[in-house]
Amino acid sequence: MLSGPEPEDPRPDDPRRFSPSAARNRDPILAVLRAHLPQRGTVLEVASGSGEHIVHLATAMGDDLLFQPSEADGEARASIDAWAREMRCRNVLPALALDATAWPWPIASADAVLCINMIHIAPWQATVGLMRGAASVLAPGGLLYLYGPFTVAGAHTAESNAAFDASLRARDPAWGVRDLDTLAEAARAAGFAAPEVVPMPANNLSVLFRRA
Ligand SMILES: C[S@@+](CC[C@H](N)C(=O)[O-])C[C@H]1O[C@@H](n2cnc3c(N)ncnc32)[C@H](O)[C@@H]1O
Repeated sequence: MLSGPEPEDPRPDDPRRFSPSAARNRDPILAVLRAHLPQRGTVLEVASGSGEHIVHLATAMGDDLLFQPSEADGEARASIDAWAREMRCRNVLPALALDATAWPWPIASADAVLCINMIHIAPWQATVGLMRGAASVLAPGGLLYLYGPFTVAGAHTAESNAAFDASLRARDPAWGVRDLDTLAEAARAAGFAAPEVVPMPANNLSVLFRRA
């Protein structure tokens, strides 16, 4: 996790992580989700990272929605729980240990599933697991929301995305920016309808699937 706008004098025992990209993209993501999340119910986030997105969403959306963060990484889970405590979020549950590739998932149902900036920083199996797991917890019509950089018809949408893709693949050949059509085909195979795509700042996309 990148370090970010940390408090001037962080406590040495403070497990919170600070992600500069989460600070930048949380409001544009909130704007899209306000228009698409249900009025009430449970929102599961996969790969919550630092936890900054989920506490921001939970604070903005109010108590009719219950937010369930999750992470594969234990230190990230400590950060998520610390953020929820610090922000006094009554509608954020303790972070679940959830690896998207695992089966079954440790949660039976959700009204929406969010996954922000994970699928390019994980092997493709994580995307397949995300689709399978999300399909298992969502009812028909339920939302699976993805955010990140994507290629469209095999082409990068910006030079900076191409450079980012190359840097990811250099770090791990199994990582890399995913193609929107390939993603939609994996989603279709898992039981989702064709996505709605919303362009986002900094050459990212919001990709919204509904359980068929
Ligand atoms: C770039 S960070 C994004 C975190 C956060 N969503 C954000 O946008 O700030 C990617 C996260 O994906 C998590 N991750 C990677 N593979 C995963 C998997 N198979 N299941 C769940 N989480 C995973 C990592 O632990 C990491 O926290």
